[in-house]
Amino acid sequence: MGVESLWGGDLLADILAISSTPRRNGNSELALRYFCRAAEESNISVEMIRIHELTLEPCRGCERCAADGICIVADKMQPLYDKVATAKGLVLATPVYFGSLSAQLKIFIDRFQCWWHAKYTLNRPFVQLSQHKAGFIICTGALHRPEFGDNVEAVGKVFFHSINYHFGGFLCLQGLESRGEIKNDPATLKTAYNEGVNFLSKLIP
Ligand SMILES: Cc1cc2nc3c(=O)[nH]c(=O)nc-3n(C[C@H](O)[C@H](O)[C@H](O)COP(=O)(O)O)c2cc1C
Repeated sequence: MGVESLWGGDLLADILAISSTPRRNGNSELALRYFCRAAEESNISVEMIRIHELTLEPCRGCERCAADGICIVADKMQPLYDKVATAKGLVLATPVYFGSLSAQLKIFIDRFQCWWHAKYTLNRPFVQLSQHKAGFIICTGALHRPEFGDNVEAVGKVFFHSINYHFGGFLCLQGLESRGEIKNDPATLKTAYNEGVNFLSKLIP
């Protein structure tokens, strides 16, 4: 549940797409799908995971991971660490909630505190900058208020930096309220697709 291979059924895909909306086929999820189309068209494996459908515990702040970089919380987050370590690109998608990202995505991000310790406390990061992995973050919101996207972008930048993914960009799509409304807006879907093409061209030249 919550996991969908968009290409070939690989367990460890080149592009890991994290959808964090509670709405299946919500606007941010559809934008994510269009973003990932370029990869699919190039036969690059994409795995999309709906983290709302996984039971993910929030970070406990126990700091046990400071000793070895490993999170002790035994839940559905554990396989995701391997997937992020293996992927070449990580694409996050979130609805804008109260001027920020979804709680689901924040939980996912906070659970990488173990990777923060691996990098900064232990000097043994799970990903090397020289691997040139890159991350991208997409958000959709109802209101045309650019500042609502600013928080999402800022959190995304801090996160990617902390896990040694290069920041590959941010896309904020606004004026989208009801579920799937983005389907009626081909220009916006095309924007998401084009951003995916651009991301991919930098990621896998
Ligand atoms: C709890 C909640 C908070 C929201 N807060 C904002 C907000 O601060 N700014 C905004 O523009 N839209 C806000 N929205 C609207 C959603 O961001 C918008 O409907 C978005 O397209 C939903 O994406 P989804 O379909 O992928 O879930 C909020 C919606 C909900 C349910």
